[in-house]
Amino acid sequence: MTSTLTIRRPDDWHVHFREGAMLNLVAPYTARIFKRAIAMPNLSSPLYDGQACRRYQTQLLATCGDHDFIPLPVLYLSDASKADTIHAATPQVPAAKFYPRGATTASLDGVSDYRKILPALAAMEKVGMLLLVHGETTDPTVDIYEREKVFIEQTLAPIRNQFPDLKIVFEHITSRAAIAFVSAAKNTAATITPHHLLYNRSDLFVDGLRPHRYCLPVAKSEEDRVALVEAATGGQACFFAGSDSAPHTKSDKCKDHGCAGIFNAVAALETYTEVFERMNALHQLENFTSVYGARFYGLALNQETITLLREPWQVPMEIESSAVRVVPFRAGETITWQLAHS
Ligand code: NCD
Ligand code: ZN
Repeated sequence: MTSTLTIRRPDDWHVHFREGAMLNLVAPYTARIFKRAIAMPNLSSPLYDGQACRRYQTQLLATCGDHDFIPLPVLYLSDASKADTIHAATPQVPAAKFYPRGATTASLDGVSDYRKILPALAAMEKVGMLLLVHGETTDPTVDIYEREKVFIEQTLAPIRNQFPDLKIVFEHITSRAAIAFVSAAKNTAATITPHHLLYNRSDLFVDGLRPHRYCLPVAKSEEDRVALVEAATGGQACFFAGSDSAPHTKSDKCKDHGCAGIFNAVAALETYTEVFERMNALHQLENFTSVYGARFYGLALNQETITLLREPWQVPMEIESSAVRVVPFRAGETITWQLAHS
């Protein structure tokens, strides 16, 4: 049995770092292991333009100063995003995020209809800025387990057809419909999270309601979960790692109308490794975590390596500072792999 695993240093193509005390608490968990991370723009003041992205990058660098880590904030698209917004942010900002308005945390100023931002999308296609998509319809009459599929039909497929050269990352995919769409489309990739590889929709209700397993898009059926594991481990270059680590305080998760989001930076890479090992696919792990994403973004591969050891450890029940308390993904569970400390 392999007891050490050395791979090219990975990147995380989808992370929520937040702000203030939460940022200080959570950011080092990503920076300790990943070389680069796409920093999501759904902040209390969303990152509407390139200047806001630059300011946020400076904050993130100040917080993660001890690590050799490169945060990559991306633009927040709203109905007001113009072609000029894109041009002014190019080439420093690699991507822009499309939140359907009201779909998830801090998305109230997201895009109400993709047809409102056609000039911005055309500019992105032209300059090579990636479009990152939260793929769920916000139509409340659509069953929550069908929202990804309906979004593909109503929004993603039309954007795909209208802008054939636009590079699109379908974020945190959860369904067989999304896997099929991404596999068949050109210039299209998807991130897959650790939690969607572990949980199906029944797992949110094991031994009572489990708010710390609740995220958006919500986990789907067991068949969908199995298909995601096969897609992630199967060696197709269009599927790569994006943890969607999304911390909320314990009280915000546990209240009525609790927040969606799973803080998994504590065990994201370690969980991917367990999943790949169970599938006898450890030889594909490096491609998924450290190669395919960088290639899709058109960035150089990281040159350094990291080593994982087969040394079981227990995920803490809580992580806290004087100001915030967060329950991590897989709290209390034993995980097989851990990062070797150099
Ligand atoms: C994310 C958050 O809390 O910012 N929540 C989540 O459930 N994934 C937003 C998002 O990516 O949808
Ligand atoms: Zn997210």
